[in-house]
Amino acid sequence: MINIRPELPGDEEAIWQVNEAAFGRAAEADLVDVLRRRNVITLSLVAEREGEIVGHILFTPVTITDEAGGVVTAVALGPMAVSPACQREGIGSQLVQTGITMLRQAGHEIVIVLGHPEFYPRFGFEPASRSGIRWEIEVPDEVFMALALQPGALAGVTGVVRYQPEFTGV
Ligand SMILES: CC(C)(COP(=O)(O)OP(=O)(O)OC[C@H]1O[C@@H](n2cnc3c(N)ncnc32)[C@H](O)[C@@H]1OP(=O)(O)O)[C@@H](O)C(=O)NCCC(=O)NCCS
Repeated sequence: MINIRPELPGDEEAIWQVNEAAFGRAAEADLVDVLRRRNVITLSLVAEREGEIVGHILFTPVTITDEAGGVVTAVALGPMAVSPACQREGIGSQLVQTGITMLRQAGHEIVIVLGHPEFYPRFGFEPASRSGIRWEIEVPDEVFMALALQPGALAGVTGVVRYQPEFTGV
């Protein structure tokens, strides 16, 4: 039985461990800590199994700037991580689904993700390039994706996505 819930004070260490184990390095785990310290987290959810944190997903604010300098705010998914021993059991999917639902309910309009092209489309993500949205850094079309949380939210939104500066180099 998996319980998905918002991060609470005291979860920090377990979240760090899950990220470090899933990515096999500390960079993403440290990034989560820095973003938390700077208070630039839109939503942070954990997956618990028998009281133990086995998964984590983070959403942070980004901007999408068009050629005329117009700015739209959106939310980026990532990093997300599931403990290696618990992967491929649907926990990651539950984290994404719950995150999307909560963001939609909170009135957010667009989610961006840079990630596995075989994983995120099942939640409705499409290549962001289809909407004329791209990342600052050139990446293969299919790995940079966008999802409209509200009907028509992507219509007319074009431009360059900028993450929080702490993501640079991770
Ligand atoms: C990606 C991740 C969060 C998915 O969590 P999960 O609980 O295993 O996900 P689910 O069981 O809900 O779904 C499994 C799907 O994830 C994808 N997936 C899992 N591991 C993957 C990997 N190493 N590479 C690519 N895709 C992977 C597959 O599409 C898989 O689908 P399938 O089982 O139909 O083939 C987890 O594998 C993980 O922590 N990976 C290491 C860290 C990472 O890459 N994070 C994401 C950065 S974008």
